[in-house]
Amino acid sequence: MIVKLALSLCTLALLGAPAFAQQDPLSPEDLLKKERGVFEMFCAHCHGKNMVNPGTSSFDLRKFPKDQKDRFVASVTNGRGDMPAWGDVLLPEEFDLLWHYVTTRAGKEPGPFESSHTQDAAAAKDVPDPSALLIAPGTLTACLAKNGGVMSSRRSKGGAGLDYEVAAALADRMDLTLAVEWFESEPEEESSPVREAYAMLAYGLCDIMPGFALYETSLSAFYKTRAALPRWDNKPDSMGMEFQVDLEPISVSDPYARMEMGVVYRTAEFEREITQIADMQGLRIGAEQGTLAGILTLRQGTNKMTAQVQTFNPGADFLWRMEQGEFDAALVTIGAYDFHKKQNPISTLVLDEYRHPIGFNLSVAMLKRNRDLLDWIDPVINEMVGDGTMAALAVKSKQTYSPPRQPWVQKYLTIQDIIMRR
Ligand code: HEC
Repeated sequence: MIVKLALSLCTLALLGAPAFAQQDPLSPEDLLKKERGVFEMFCAHCHGKNMVNPGTSSFDLRKFPKDQKDRFVASVTNGRGDMPAWGDVLLPEEFDLLWHYVTTRAGKEPGPFESSHTQDAAAAKDVPDPSALLIAPGTLTACLAKNGGVMSSRRSKGGAGLDYEVAAALADRMDLTLAVEWFESEPEEESSPVREAYAMLAYGLCDIMPGFALYETSLSAFYKTRAALPRWDNKPDSMGMEFQVDLEPISVSDPYARMEMGVVYRTAEFEREITQIADMQGLRIGAEQGTLAGILTLRQGTNKMTAQVQTFNPGADFLWRMEQGEFDAALVTIGAYDFHKKQNPISTLVLDEYRHPIGFNLSVAMLKRNRDLLDWIDPVINEMVGDGTMAALAVKSKQTYSPPRQPWVQKYLTIQDIIMRR
């Protein structure tokens, strides 16, 4: 082990300008790939993919001082605390690769010896170019619903809502220009938002589709089938509704937010202590027929309560009817409440702190054959969730933010869940 340590120190001493860059005609991309390979084999399961980890159970390597190479070599060689020793495992070359990987923060920053004034360093600083995976080089194209409620809406310049903000932040941090294909989700019998998402991705309309709810059946159900495309702003007139796309498997990112349901009161005077739906008994309750919130209200209320629930056709006017006094409380998705408040600044409606335990995490979907995009997307999402950026974007979008919660993917809901999960 001592011999090994001496050897690796020796190699590292040559590092002035990274020695391997001179001996080795590797392009910055290939070098990064090699570094990442070693890191993922030996270090990523504790320190996180792309070194993204919260630093709670192991050291956050993005914070390792770039000028303390000796400490790096000593700690990695001999182990430290709960970290095993790597001196007998790693080759000297691998120490070099890992040191460069750590000091460049997984290829996102110049290393300690690279002058940021040279052309090379500028190239090394850039996130490697994901263009090979993109529809248009240099551009991240996102599909967003222009009638997406509080999650996405079109503006004369750009857009609004958390899904739009996520797309914009991803493009920004990947050094790409954002392009949006604005589509209109059509509430038709035979179409569903999930099928539409698959169809748009398979058609090649966009690279990414934010706002994809992580529900087990949505992740597998639709490929090997065909589906129609929704309307979008630049859709050719010649393409009729009968046009169908062969669907393809998709992949999804780590989640960035959670869609939850909560209790809304007509005014603060109806507020009470709620720990489950049945606690609404005694209030005049409304339920939106055919929605999950409506079904839960009817299934999880007391008998007396459900006998008195007023049911309504689903639609945007449900909360307006509460506002007008037709009922005093309801279980609704938080997004619907936020949207109503945004559209109606003088609304008296109040949201209780209670949240129903069933919820759906939101992620970014893409074609499975483009899943290498996740090497860029997942670290950005995790960082933004971890450092509060995502919550701030939600506030900017006038949304009540809930961070994603485990398990990431909601299992298929059985009637048992509908009755018992309260
Ligand atoms: C089994 C989990 C595990 C693995 C695998 C692992 N580490 Fe660690 N590492 C840790 C923990 C835990 C710490 C925090 C140690 C402490 O200070 O208590 C740590 C700390 C470190 C530190 C900071 C040491 C210091 O001087 O403060 C470095 C650098 C480091 N690890 C690099 C690596 C590298 C490079 C690899 C891959 C070769 C790796 N680690 C693999 C768990 C691990």
